[in-house]
Amino acid sequence: MTLARAVAEGADPAELAALEVPSTYRAVHVRKDEVGMFPDKDVRRTLHVGQVPMPELAADEVLVAVMASAINFNTVWTAMFEPIPTFAFLERLGRTDPRHDLPTHVVGSDAAGVVVRTGVAVRRWKVGDRVVTSPAYVDSEDPITHHDGMLGADLRAWGFETNFGGLADFAVVKATQLLPKPRHLSWEEAACNMLCASTAYRMLVSERGSRMRQGDVVLLWGATGGLGAYGVQLVKNGGGIPVGVVSSPEKAELLRRMGCSHVVDRSQFEHLDDEKAWRRFGAEVRRQVGEDPAIVFEHTGRETFGASVYVARRGGSVVTCGSSSGYAHEYDNRHLWMKLKSIIGSHGANYQECHEVNRLISLGMIHPTLSRVYPLERAADAARAVQLNEHVGKVGVLALAPEEDLGIEDHALRERIGEDKLRLFRS
Ligand SMILES: NC(=O)c1ccc[n+]([C@@H]2O[C@H](COP(=O)([O-])OP(=O)(O)OC[C@H]3O[C@@H](n4cnc5c(N)ncnc54)[C@H](OP(=O)(O)O)[C@@H]3O)[C@@H](O)[C@H]2O)c1
Repeated sequence: MTLARAVAEGADPAELAALEVPSTYRAVHVRKDEVGMFPDKDVRRTLHVGQVPMPELAADEVLVAVMASAINFNTVWTAMFEPIPTFAFLERLGRTDPRHDLPTHVVGSDAAGVVVRTGVAVRRWKVGDRVVTSPAYVDSEDPITHHDGMLGADLRAWGFETNFGGLADFAVVKATQLLPKPRHLSWEEAACNMLCASTAYRMLVSERGSRMRQGDVVLLWGATGGLGAYGVQLVKNGGGIPVGVVSSPEKAELLRRMGCSHVVDRSQFEHLDDEKAWRRFGAEVRRQVGEDPAIVFEHTGRETFGASVYVARRGGSVVTCGSSSGYAHEYDNRHLWMKLKSIIGSHGANYQECHEVNRLISLGMIHPTLSRVYPLERAADAARAVQLNEHVGKVGVLALAPEEDLGIEDHALRERIGEDKLRLFRS
């Protein structure tokens, strides 16, 4: 019996502890010798599934047998080698931890699975624990990490700026990345949330983000996408008024089914690159809601940022964590200073913020946005769908879980929430 098979069959902790850790494992990875080889940037060319060497476990780390994972946009960046090849991150990390600097980069920043080994310094987790992973890979010896994990100079996004990520049968994480798996969710439902839900939580709810208050109007770009669909839920859950921006009638309909009644279809606004277009866009938001947004939830970047700064209300904020359409933004600064607006940079979420959003998910107050699921062997097709913006919500990937809908423990909570809410994005 292999360790992977034992996990898939639900073996008990004693059996898992007795079985040998394999010397290689199946993983989705990019290859250093392929950097710059494919000008069309099709991620299916560069994402490979194959055996990679199993690393040694450090004292503060845990080996997780991955039941399911999910695609994040950072895997698309890695597979395009944009804006820089992530091997540069591995080389830098390799100066203090040579294990990471390899010719293969195992990607993926989300996972749900079972702890199969713990390093000698790990105290709170044990073999057999069912977990989800959070993506912030912090240096706990850096003092500022104990103020806010996201401020550490050596902060890294696991599976993007580190090796041994979650799109694999096994993943190596620090113990400070682990959270208990929500008991009412299947493996793939549990695996899809943490990166996007926690990032959206920090942007909107945390005192380090935009500190949303009851009644705040919040404009969300990409409102049915990975980040946006958690953003909409968090706004509604916190008593705010979401205004969702999407690009098709189907996505608009999905938003309405989420309970977001203010919807703007951005395909009606050809280019949002000058003040005339920003005014038309702002007028549409005001027509629907009656006021300007207190908060604009940004991750779309160059093509939308000028509009975002323009539409935020006097004293409002634009909170940003990304730049999908280009990172050199242009906006009219007069609209910022004259109307006392602020721009808030946000990145990931610290361990406490991850814990808080995992609690909301575990209580059934925030739901997974899983729309489709691929086997690990087809992870490159899953990433391609995200690259082409063909998806809604999150795209899941099964690793050791032999099929979907396994891993649910709390059926009563599931019934109380209702399958219609838990599977809304799958319909
Ligand atoms: N710093 C962090 O911690 C962090 C964490 C997560 C994600 N991110 C970044 O945030 C970005 C979004 O991530 P995601 O997971 O939400 O991706 P996603 O699942 O692809 O969703 C992005 C959404 O943005 C919309 N969009 C795409 N291009 C657009 C454009 N040019 N103008 C307006 N809307 C556009 C799309 O919706 P419509 O077509 O319906 O409008 C899409 O659904 C990525 O760049 C990612 O790297 C950063």
